[in-house]
Amino acid sequence: MATKLFLLMILLSHVASSFSEWCHPQDKMALLQIKKELNNPTILSSWKPNTDCCKMNWYGVTCFHSNNRVRDLIISNDNKLTAKFPLSIDNLPYLESLFFDHLPNLTGPIPIEPISKLLKLRTLTISSTGMSGPIPNFPAQMKHLYNLDLSSNYFSGTLPYSLYKLPKLGSIFFYNNSLTGSIPPSYGYFNNKNLPSLLLSHNQLSGKLPISLARLNTTVIELSHNKFEGDASMLFGSNKATREIYLSQNLFTFDLGKVELSKTMTTLDVSHNQIYGKLPVGIENILSLNVSYNNLCGKIPKGGNMHLFGVNSFFHNKCLCGSPLSNCK
Ligand SMILES: *[C@@H]1O[C@H](CO)[C@@H](O)[C@H](O)[C@H]1NC(C)=O
Ligand SMILES: *[C@@H]1O[C@H](CO)[C@@H](O)[C@H](O)[C@H]1NC(C)=O
Ligand SMILES: *[C@@H]1O[C@H](CO)[C@@H](O)[C@H](O)[C@H]1NC(C)=O
Ligand SMILES: *[C@@H]1O[C@H](CO)[C@@H](O)[C@H](O)[C@H]1NC(C)=O
Repeated sequence: MATKLFLLMILLSHVASSFSEWCHPQDKMALLQIKKELNNPTILSSWKPNTDCCKMNWYGVTCFHSNNRVRDLIISNDNKLTAKFPLSIDNLPYLESLFFDHLPNLTGPIPIEPISKLLKLRTLTISSTGMSGPIPNFPAQMKHLYNLDLSSNYFSGTLPYSLYKLPKLGSIFFYNNSLTGSIPPSYGYFNNKNLPSLLLSHNQLSGKLPISLARLNTTVIELSHNKFEGDASMLFGSNKATREIYLSQNLFTFDLGKVELSKTMTTLDVSHNQIYGKLPVGIENILSLNVSYNNLCGKIPKGGNMHLFGVNSFFHNKCLCGSPLSNCK
């Protein structure tokens, strides 16, 4: 009798535990397959087939409470993980955020086919990895994609032309790669409702900026440390929402005196270019300023935040004068 009761209890507890597993079996299978494709790294040792992937005990995995599907996958800071990007990622159809960062031995190209099946994805971060190859044209069917951070990898080739078709895209972080070519004219057609941030610094981009960028209402635009030339005045505009503009270390040539600064502007760094003319109206409202190493002229205005800026915000220009540089003649 006692043995029968004991067996019954074992049976019941077994049934209870299998019912109480939250993790969706399909997602669990996908995660275990991803672990295998990542060559069973130590960092994923908590991904055990006999435990529940949704109870916050699988490293980097978060699920929705409503349907127990995997929502976020975050794998970061491991230089021992040596693999290519896992192709089974497309078996996590509810994924909203995917972060692979500081994984120097994650290598190879971005597999666009499985990634483009993640139709609920909002954030894709592949940053500080060893990945290389071109940045693909993420298809417009990824209609929730907002953050696309591919910074600090070894991506090369040109900027993907059709990104502007992604209706929600708002953060485009491609800085610190080996991208070449110029900015496609289509980049003036990102959805302005998202007030996109375009961060392309530390690449080998070149050529003139397309006039269409005048349409773009950006919050932050960062083009520093490239080989851009010619005019950049179309990035400015008094009725834009722009807060920060970084253009340093390029070959830009335009009249800075003619640009209209937005009222929201906090940061302007145009150092190390061939920019000429006077300082623009309203510059004294900016909080962080660097116009050094250009061909600017005229008197540095007083008032506002101008007392915050030292000599090295202004030095190495053609004929800028007045405090903190020497007096005007
Ligand atoms: C991982 O990459 C680093 C360089 O980033 C290298 O020194 C190291 O040997 C690699 N580790 C493995 C296990 O491949
Ligand atoms: C650029 O990326 C490399 C490799 O990931 C990293 O070591 C370096 O610190 C990054 N530099 C900048 C300026 O972000
Ligand atoms: C830019 O966006 C801001 C904030 O949404 C808006 O007030 C402004 O009118 C927009 N400007 C342009 C030129 O679209
Ligand atoms: C401005 O940029 C120049 C050149 O890149 C640099 O030497 C200087 O220190 C910078 N000034 C400030 C205030 O950051």
